[in-house]
Amino acid sequence: MQDFAGRVAAITGAGSGIGRALAYELSRYGARLALSDINEAAVAETAAHALKLGASETTATRLDVADRHAVQAWADETAAHFGTVNLVFNNAGVALTASVEEMEWEDFEWLMGINFWGVAYGTKAFLPHLRRAREAHLVNISSVFGLMGIPTQSAYCAAKYAVRGFTESLRQEMALSKSGVRVTTVHPGGIKTNIARSARVAKGLPQGEIADHFDKKLATTSPERAARIILRGVRHNRSRVFVGPDATAIDLGQRVLGAGLEPLVRLFAGRSLPVAPAAPAAPAAAKQPPAAPSAT
Ligand SMILES: NC(=O)c1ccc[n+]([C@@H]2O[C@H](COP(=O)([O-])OP(=O)(O)OC[C@H]3O[C@@H](n4cnc5c(N)ncnc54)[C@H](O)[C@@H]3O)[C@@H](O)[C@H]2O)c1
Repeated sequence: MQDFAGRVAAITGAGSGIGRALAYELSRYGARLALSDINEAAVAETAAHALKLGASETTATRLDVADRHAVQAWADETAAHFGTVNLVFNNAGVALTASVEEMEWEDFEWLMGINFWGVAYGTKAFLPHLRRAREAHLVNISSVFGLMGIPTQSAYCAAKYAVRGFTESLRQEMALSKSGVRVTTVHPGGIKTNIARSARVAKGLPQGEIADHFDKKLATTSPERAARIILRGVRHNRSRVFVGPDATAIDLGQRVLGAGLEPLVRLFAGRSLPVAPAAPAAPAAAKQPPAAPSAT
């Protein structure tokens, strides 16, 4: 897809960060936008500003992507309202910092519901509409944590690896069936958004310090730049898009070193991660290191 003018784009998680930046960037081309987010006020704000930036039309919907029936209803309403759907960005996501041993099932399921099932629901709900469009592109947001395992990020990594496998399989299916639907997986590195501030962390971990560390040390790319890189990937019909120099380096490291990357990850993560050493009985008030990487 070379031109976004007049195209209908549906974006989940459009109330903040990458989703909001995608909405604003598409507005500059005069796209028509179906925006959703679990935060109703935030998505309404995005929609209003998008109109000022040049979007020809916007809708703003409160949507929990972990609710399959609600996602289906939103996809059908969007297609009915705009008459077609050309672009879908399954972007909504959350983060969780907790070791496998500390992680509560409730938090694990919360994250998978949004970061994996939300993407799967969005994909299946919109696919029939995309197939009917003259030009169509589906974009699912994974992460660099869909390329390598990271201590304290098992749930996030599981979801983002799953998004990657799901999306790459779909891309093959679309190509084999000679469908016109293009499919892209996006692997952002650290992007300066609200993700770490709104993350859940294991009981006792210093959430504020973890978020500070993410903002200061890890989030090196702006959401605006991320949106431009993603849209360039759509224009060039890239199978995978790496966002930021860190993402490009991690992709290269994975391909060159394979499992040899693991000691480097441990070296980097070990300095700041809140992983308690394995012990039969953990001390009652073990002091946690000050900061930890959050989801990327
Ligand atoms: N920020 C990064 O460093 C980074 C790196 C790699 C991947 N990502 C991915 O990018 C995507 C966007 O994240 P972001 O960094 O812009 O974060 P963000 O927190 O700024 O924005 C996420 C948006 O998703 C919304 N959301 C949360 N739960 C939802 C739900 N159940 N239903 C619908 N909307 C919901 C939030 O309200 C928020 O507006 C996520 O999938 C995230 O995992 C982010």
